[in-house]
Amino acid sequence: MRNIVILTGAGISAESGIATFRGPGGLWEGHRVEDVCTPEALTRDAALVHRFYDLRRAALSTVTPNRAHEALARLDREWTGKLLIVTQNVDDLHERAGARRMLHMHGELRSALCAACEARLPWSDALPPGTVCPACGAAALRPDIVFFGEMPYQMERIDEALSCADLFVSIGTSGAVYPAAGFVQLARQYGAATLELNLDPSDGSAWFDETRLGPAGTLVPAWVDEMLSANRT
Ligand code: APR
Repeated sequence: MRNIVILTGAGISAESGIATFRGPGGLWEGHRVEDVCTPEALTRDAALVHRFYDLRRAALSTVTPNRAHEALARLDREWTGKLLIVTQNVDDLHERAGARRMLHMHGELRSALCAACEARLPWSDALPPGTVCPACGAAALRPDIVFFGEMPYQMERIDEALSCADLFVSIGTSGAVYPAAGFVQLARQYGAATLELNLDPSDGSAWFDETRLGPAGTLVPAWVDEMLSANRT
């Protein structure tokens, strides 16, 4: 196993206290997706959409990375082959645990995007509608979040990483949302082995060579130990 691609979802942050989307009491249960996570919602009620992400951005300072994030950061530091963590999450827990070889395919809470000039800038505070973009002067800053119906970020880079992966690992995702849910099929077509670490069976479990069920905080450190000790022999 030389080259690894790891896909993470809301389940990896659950033990840090961040609600998942589709579980009991899930984030979307509080809101209709159409009301807070679509381009139409932003046009119809920008204040509601901005406030939804302001609350989630503010909550980041109340949570910390868990043992799963820390284990992946250790793998990132010590793995001598290629490695890429593709997260669907918009929290910053992978970075705060020390992960470097990673990307956010659905955007990130701690970033603002200018709808006019597409400049991206780090953002930690509230982001009211009509905030002026420092790059182009338009009052067009929005949350740097990929809404339903928009194209996820860095898809070419993800496909390139999958094309040379020996192992694709999916952690804490329901396999409900494409294109991420299709990565396991792409990985198989490219000849990679596939492993799923999840609390419950996901919509895509049938596509994986192996599925281990349990909390990420337990499964991920054990899997990383396995990979690093096998890699040393
Ligand atoms: N450890 C491991 N897995 C867990 C844990 C845990 N402690 N807790 C929950 N899970 C699993 C659930 O079993 C579920 O399969 O995490 C998954 C969470 O699924 P979702 O809530 O659908 O989150 P996710 O798969 O990341 O959603 C994908 O959909 O709403 C959009 O853009 C949003 O990025 C998100 C995307």
